[in-house]
Amino acid sequence: MKDVSTTSYALEFRGVVAGYGDTMVLRGVSGEVGPGQVIGVLGRNGVGKTTLMRALTGTIPLSSGDVIWNGESIAGVAAHARRKLGISYAPQERMVFDDLSVADNLTIGFPDRGFARFESALKMFPRIKERLAQQAGKLSGGEKKLLSVCRVFSERSALTLIDEPSEGVAQENLERMAELVRQRTAEGASFVIVEQNISFLSSLADHFIALDHGETVLRAAASDVSKESLEAVLTV
Ligand SMILES: Nc1ncnc2c1ncn2[C@@H]1O[C@H](COP(=O)(O)OP(=O)(O)OP(=O)(O)O)[C@@H](O)[C@H]1O
Ligand SMILES: [Mg+2]
Repeated sequence: MKDVSTTSYALEFRGVVAGYGDTMVLRGVSGEVGPGQVIGVLGRNGVGKTTLMRALTGTIPLSSGDVIWNGESIAGVAAHARRKLGISYAPQERMVFDDLSVADNLTIGFPDRGFARFESALKMFPRIKERLAQQAGKLSGGEKKLLSVCRVFSERSALTLIDEPSEGVAQENLERMAELVRQRTAEGASFVIVEQNISFLSSLADHFIALDHGETVLRAAASDVSKESLEAVLTV
């Protein structure tokens, strides 16, 4: 096996096989993302993008393969313990607690319940700031996405996985989200971002992987891949 301790990648995943029950959705997916970098994960509906995020965050177990974080395997580390290792996750669905207020959705994960950490994200998204007292279940899908993004960015983790951040989100807020990602990568943070919005993803990603039927069908640095070949992955 490759000696990962000599590479500068923050996160590596090798030959990831995972799925649900006896059904394997991912059939050997590999990739990596270095400090201060963004890896974009592309693919049509149902190819296994969310399943990959679940496998990388420990939400589902690996059947084989490995996930390496800062040179050490975390394949056996429980999902909640990965957050303590500096890994945060904004899932595609059920991203907020509908029964809680917007404010409580933000602070619930932080024992001190402090609000200062949310200031810069809330400044970017005044729509969320205006709704702090409202029940989160009453937000639109796009607003829930923004709330989830405000929360995950405020965790200021070394690695953040975000599943389809653009879903239902207006262009001006997408640009603000991109700005937040750039601020964090400038500070050395890494991101895994699943997207079908190629313009948004291309503005951020240093490299891409594309999935089809649970396999990696494209793996390339942003400088080596055209927008057309990325679009082709979504249309074949
Ligand atoms: N909880 C689950 N239990 C069983 N099968 C599942 C589960 N979640 C997803 N699947 C199946 O796994 C396959 C991949 O789904 P996944 O959600 O990973 O795809 P995706 O690429 O994220 O799709 P989308 O673009 O629609 O979000 C699909 O066939 C899906 O039906
Ligand atoms: Mg998905």
